[in-house]
Amino acid sequence: MAAGPAGLRLTLQRLVLDSPAYGFGGSVTAPHDSSSEEERGLDVPGTCVVGLQWGDEAKGKLVDILTEDHEIVVRYQGGANAGHTVVSGGETWKLSLIPSGILRDGVTCVVTGGVVLDPASVIGEIDMLEGRGVTVAGKLRLSDRAHVVFPWHMAEDAILNGSLSSGESIGTTGRGIGPCYRDKVGRSLAFRLGDLYRPTFRETFDHVFDVKQRFLEASRPGEMPKLDLDRDAIFRQYCGYAERLRDYVGETTNFLLDAAETGRPLLFEGAQGALLDIDHGTFPFVTSSNSSGVGVASGSGVPGRWINRVIGVIKAYSTRVGGGPLPTEQDNAIGEHLRQRGREFGTVTQRPRRCGWFDAVATRYTSRLSGVDELAVMLLDVLGGLEELKICTAYCIRGEVVDRFPSQIEDLQEAEPIYETLPGWPEELTDVRREADLPVNARRYIDRIGELLGRPVSIVSVGPDRAQTIFREGFPATAPCPPNPQQEQATV
Ligand code: GDP
Ligand code: IMO
Ligand code: MG
Repeated sequence: MAAGPAGLRLTLQRLVLDSPAYGFGGSVTAPHDSSSEEERGLDVPGTCVVGLQWGDEAKGKLVDILTEDHEIVVRYQGGANAGHTVVSGGETWKLSLIPSGILRDGVTCVVTGGVVLDPASVIGEIDMLEGRGVTVAGKLRLSDRAHVVFPWHMAEDAILNGSLSSGESIGTTGRGIGPCYRDKVGRSLAFRLGDLYRPTFRETFDHVFDVKQRFLEASRPGEMPKLDLDRDAIFRQYCGYAERLRDYVGETTNFLLDAAETGRPLLFEGAQGALLDIDHGTFPFVTSSNSSGVGVASGSGVPGRWINRVIGVIKAYSTRVGGGPLPTEQDNAIGEHLRQRGREFGTVTQRPRRCGWFDAVATRYTSRLSGVDELAVMLLDVLGGLEELKICTAYCIRGEVVDRFPSQIEDLQEAEPIYETLPGWPEELTDVRREADLPVNARRYIDRIGELLGRPVSIVSVGPDRAQTIFREGFPATAPCPPNPQQEQATV
């Protein structure tokens, strides 16, 4: 993805991205930019922000900042399992389905067909934003291809308790994500947003409702009370949602392709983190979408050739919420230090996040997987006050030292981290605004991360607010770290 379509200049006519052409109603307006194609850099329109760990890397904060330079912000996978926090001028915003770009004027936010959409959630967010003075009308577009989350999906999530067949808990967010994606892939019991407007909706709804009711009753554990899903009430409720969202729903794939091909700067906002990717993450302790960089094209319909900048977002340490291995977990005073200073409690479920040292084996893997060009190291301030910092540079799995991330969960479960130790710093970083003002040990720490991941660190975050961000000038002198051929062979 890093290589943009250099030299490729499409001679498409400059399109006006006007709403009716894509089926959007109401007063939806498209962004309009009168700058020339040369000025806007026609052949390099896409930037992608992707989390490289297990989610909550502060993608929302970064997207909000980068939105300043983009016209269109795109959410391409996941659903209301995401919780993205943006802090600006003392105000805190928590967003789940609507891209964090919504907080800026003149920006169009697109939720594509790769997302599973809970209408109640999105309406709740629209109301919250409008109630706090943020205009959403005319700025938000929801794909008619997005699959719809129904109450039975949440019920399935609850009944299965997010558990594997072994009974071990994945610890899902309970938002019906897995069951909705399962129906999407299974095809026969799925509804896309566009289906809610069809005259056949009632008939299809009744059929699906019957099947779901039988399934839920059969899979309900004995001790769980009978589920009381009210057919007519749910139908009416979803018809109401469809009406409420009518002006926001339309075709987004052509909209985005037209935008990319005419050089509009696009910003793609990843949800979750690459280690939760259904295909490439720590299966089965993952979410149900492609949350690494590989998901951008499939989820949005915009080919990778239009994405020329991939920013990998990492926390300066590791966190995970829910089940599954976290090799560097510190279930001790260090973990507690990180949890308290980083306020590591889930945005969606308020669960305490599990905390540990930075894992360079895992993030080097996800940097490569996601085609990352540069790194944003977030929450660096949280490490302040620790005498020593550890970075995991390899795993020892059943006596063998490996520096490649294993594909099998049993291997990851047995992985013992091999650490290198760096000196910490006592200073608080939250007021630092220039790289030169960072303590030398903090600079050493981020440079070492860049070196281990083979990518430069271009952005450093020292607090939740927009202002607490350092953009490294001419960023920075981290030479790519070539793989050690001996270690490359030492795979599991
Ligand atoms: P996302 O899901 O990747 O958008 O991340 P979340 O919003 O779920 O979690 C990141 C949390 O860290 C939020 O509460 C942010 O306000 C907060 N945050 C972001 N950047 C920083 C930072 O540099 N330092 C500190 N201490 N907190 C930060
Ligand atoms: P953001 O976008 C952190 C985790 C859940 C669970 C697993 C599967 O805020 O980074 P799901 O409900 O998706 O079926 O749960 O994935 N998970 C997240 N963890 N941040 C997220 O999103 C997450 N979304 C899902 O805790 O372990
Ligand atoms: Mg989050």
